[in-house]
Amino acid sequence: MILAADRLVAEAQTAIAERGRWIIALSGGSTPKALFELLASPQYLHKITWGRTFLFWGDERCVGPDDAQSNYRMTKIALIDHIPIPVANVLRIRGELAPESAANLYAHEIKRIFGLAEGQLPQFDTMLLGLGNDGHTASLFPESDILGRDDVLVAETWVAKLKQYRISLTAPVINNARSKLFLAAGDDKASVIRELLEQTGNYQNYPASLIRNADWLIDQAAASQLQR
Ligand code: 6PG
Repeated sequence: MILAADRLVAEAQTAIAERGRWIIALSGGSTPKALFELLASPQYLHKITWGRTFLFWGDERCVGPDDAQSNYRMTKIALIDHIPIPVANVLRIRGELAPESAANLYAHEIKRIFGLAEGQLPQFDTMLLGLGNDGHTASLFPESDILGRDDVLVAETWVAKLKQYRISLTAPVINNARSKLFLAAGDDKASVIRELLEQTGNYQNYPASLIRNADWLIDQAAASQLQR
């Protein structure tokens, strides 16, 4: 995770130096927790100007902010509670609302912070992405209706296998980010990572394959099946 932390510090410092602020969309799930805890640690805490940082999420489960499944809750415990970031700079997806309302409100917040005109795409400085072993990223799950959405910035999506609504940035928004970083760990991701990086097997059915020009921050276990 040190490599990932150093990469985020570098991206934050560059964005703030060049544009006066760093706007990142965080991934959810369990993998980034250790990264967030590292960024909140004494050796990293002061390397990022949190007052000039805006935290968004790539996706959220449709649950309240105190729910154990909430990506926001995980991030709050691991990072937000330990950094001097203004409340207004944390743009939580309101998972407790009806899914369509949560998606519309989040899109409104994105347009407000980026100062977007109608039809414009936001350009996040950093898009941190996770990867499921089914090839999903954010909440872009295989064969889901959100995959083809290019008419909205954010959409609600029913994930049948999880019997859960999710809110997610759409693929065009993710792709428009300056930097796209997949963060994945563990041998259960090794097979899907090999297929994606070596463009073999089922890779074209994996929503992660929609994301272009991404960098990969993976541990040895997740890289263990790479042939080259
Ligand atoms: C989520 C994430 C999702 C996650 C992957 C990997 O809300 O679940 O955004 O895309 O990154 O499912 O999750 P793990 O890190 O727990 O393996």
